[in-house]
Amino acid sequence: MPTRNRTRNRSSLAHQVRYATQHPTRIAPYLRRLARDWNIRRRTRGDHVAYYRAVMKSDTSRNPRGAVGTPTEQRWNALGKMQFDYLTGHGLSPDDRMLEIGCGNLRAGHRFIDYLESGHYHGVDISPDILLAAQQTLADQGLQHKLPYLTIVGDLRLTHLPDDAFDVVHAHSVFSHSPLTVIDECFRHVGRVLAPGGFFDFTYNRTDGEEHQVLNEDFYYRPSTLAALAEVHGLHARVMDDWEELPHKQSKMRVRAANAAESVTDTAAPTQTAEQPARKKPRKEPPRRTSARKTPETPDT
Ligand SMILES: C[S@@+](CC[C@H](N)C(=O)[O-])C[C@H]1O[C@@H](n2cnc3c(N)ncnc32)[C@H](O)[C@@H]1O
Repeated sequence: MPTRNRTRNRSSLAHQVRYATQHPTRIAPYLRRLARDWNIRRRTRGDHVAYYRAVMKSDTSRNPRGAVGTPTEQRWNALGKMQFDYLTGHGLSPDDRMLEIGCGNLRAGHRFIDYLESGHYHGVDISPDILLAAQQTLADQGLQHKLPYLTIVGDLRLTHLPDDAFDVVHAHSVFSHSPLTVIDECFRHVGRVLAPGGFFDFTYNRTDGEEHQVLNEDFYYRPSTLAALAEVHGLHARVMDDWEELPHKQSKMRVRAANAAESVTDTAAPTQTAEQPARKKPRKEPPRRTSARKTPETPDT
């Protein structure tokens, strides 16, 4: 597998000068992002959700499909399929109930909706503009009859959702755009909506050096920071090594309720407690895959 430089600090002046010298065509787009960042930051005054909602409004108005980080239709399809294949490879089954946090324009969501039983897919997002694009995807794919729930949210407290409801919670390329306060809020509440035995998979920008951010848009975390934060909220996190072999620049973690995590690889059925009904089936971790490989500078998110 090609090795990635996981210690560089992309916010440092030295990195930016070096990067600009090596990629002169990316200077103008970066300066446009810088101007946008300054403008939106001034208007939203430290409210990250309002900030990122404005980013999505701007991106969606330019390209409703590309706004989620894949500029071409071909890459949009490929990134959606990669997410879908990964979760089905990890045992997602049609009768599971799934919550997708930051569902965007259903790049992967339309595949999950098609695969899952009617009404089993719930997508939430902070951006009304991207949810309109999601509705268009639903119509384009002829999936209206699957009756997915697509809901706008203002935070990640998940208050409109019931306890123990979801076998799989999924957030692809959302924490890569989130400050730690947003991730903390999500960890605090996600355990409540996870069904017994369920798990929450999320991707993030990994650094093994100094944690940093580029503008207010891209955040880089050490896995140990996220694992420790999960622990605070009674969740156990682990790095998903098989995701690292795929051609995607972010890393992936899986969290479960800490008491459930210990028995993950057990072949025996999970223990039933008075408070928690037994899950409909025990989940076993699949063998490692060795298919596509991660490339050092895959641009999509
Ligand atoms: C890069 S896109 C990825 C969309 C989708 N997960 C996919 O892979 O196609 C990130 C999405 O997360 C949403 N988002 C960002 N921060 C969020 C938050 N705190 N809560 C919910 N959605 C959020 C954005 O509006 C955007 O639609």
